Amino acid sequence: MQFSAVSKEINEWSGTVLIAGVLEETNEIQLNSFKTLIKESLLIQRFNQEKFEGKKNQKLSIEILEGQIKRIIFVGLGKAENLLLNDLRKAASIGTRQVLGHEKKLGIFFPWDAFDQSLAAIAVGEAIKLTSIQDLRFKSEPKEKTSIEEVEFIGLGQKAAKLAIAEINPICEGVKFARELVSAPPNFLTPSKLATEAEKLATDYALDLKILDKKDCEDEGMGAYLAVAKGSDLEPKFIHLKYSPKIVKNKIVLIGKGLTFDSGGYNLKVGASQIEKMKYDMGGSAAVLGAARTIAELKPNNIEVNFIVAACENMINGSALHPGDIVKASNGKTIEVNNTDAEGRLTLADALVYACKLEPNAIVDLATLTGACVIALGDEIAGLWTDNDQLSEQLTQAASEAGEGIWRMPMQDSYKSGIKSSIADLQNTGPRAGGSITAALFLKEFVNSSIPWAHIDIAGTCWTEKDRDITPKGATGYGVRMLVNWIKELSFKSN
Ligand code: BES
Ligand code: MN
Ligand code: ZN
Repeated sequence: MQFSAVSKEINEWSGTVLIAGVLEETNEIQLNSFKTLIKESLLIQRFNQEKFEGKKNQKLSIEILEGQIKRIIFVGLGKAENLLLNDLRKAASIGTRQVLGHEKKLGIFFPWDAFDQSLAAIAVGEAIKLTSIQDLRFKSEPKEKTSIEEVEFIGLGQKAAKLAIAEINPICEGVKFARELVSAPPNFLTPSKLATEAEKLATDYALDLKILDKKDCEDEGMGAYLAVAKGSDLEPKFIHLKYSPKIVKNKIVLIGKGLTFDSGGYNLKVGASQIEKMKYDMGGSAAVLGAARTIAELKPNNIEVNFIVAACENMINGSALHPGDIVKASNGKTIEVNNTDAEGRLTLADALVYACKLEPNAIVDLATLTGACVIALGDEIAGLWTDNDQLSEQLTQAASEAGEGIWRMPMQDSYKSGIKSSIADLQNTGPRAGGSITAALFLKEFVNSSIPWAHIDIAGTCWTEKDRDITPKGATGYGVRMLVNWIKELSFKSN
């Protein structure tokens, strides 16, 4: 998809289909923009007839008989004073769905000045692209619908356009990559395949890469991670990818849960636990590798970013974990595995210990960790746990700018009694109530308390059962845009 900007008047634009975002209480100035295409009285008449008032989610398609432009799709943005970047995204995606499968070229006319122009253009551009991505990799005869090839922003300032256009594709390619990793089934995306994907990133973008295989992980004493992996015929792969700029003023570690399949192990997922969906249990690793792709392309200054995934499968065989086994993590802590289905935290435990050894300024992990988080927050909001108010604010801000839902949850230390073991240092699950809090408290046991750390539970947000805003049904690519925003902001601040 090619993005460009034209500073011309609408009527000089060379395409035929226009998507126009309009604010509620549509005033003369707004309508004025269209007067060279359609008579104002006619436009007002059509708006009135269809009760189009520019309210959020309203849309109205108007055919034009004369002139170059044949169709304008008006999409409501709501009131100017309440306008959020995400309203621009939603409107752009509504407009995009109207033309999906039949138009190749679009003109986009939005009230760019309602925001910082380049932020507005990035939001609109990414919405168009992310709404229209099709994944046909697993069809034997892929029938690709006509896809949008050219998008022209009309009336956008040149400077803002340049900034925006440089970012839209790198951001969207990161999200697309994450979605494709999540959508790929477990017989296709194995731990080794995930490592190969990291290797490709390393080669394409000159990133440093270290893959620890089983033996290396044994040498590191990663007994918790390896305990999960040993029930599978597939080898675990511990992936460490690194982006480093010339000057490093800030060092960050991003960790993603990378269970390419989670059967539950001997605590097998039965009943309504949706075992067939558990290919998406590597959604955290997809977010992290997707962010790696974007960051490697955008090359932010001053900030080193490490991307870590302890990839494996949670399966059943003769050497799989028994419920009740006691394992030892790489920081020496012993864990009684009272439920083999709480495997994510076991893999993350060793990943967190490894991350701390890099002595970073902050660690953020993303994980499809608990069903309890889905019950609490649904599929549009991820749970955020951290003891660090500043990190909480930064991540919340970065997510909100990206239109990715996030909500800070309590790190209730008194619930730690729930994961006390009578025989080992810890047990891996507590009571059902507050299950995502005890999961966060479990992870905390493996983080050096002097390093700011946040845990983000994306069990609900990494997948959607229906087309939602800029996300077609399926893998959402959740997290990539938030992480990229955060890293960009840190880079900017340390300049
Ligand atoms: N991968 C699951 C969590 C999950 C559940 C993600 C539903 C997406 C949708 C995780 O490994 C798991 O099984 N967690 C258990 C923990 C429990 C045994 C304490 C859960 O949430 O049921
Ligand atoms: Mn599980
Ligand atoms: Zn899992």
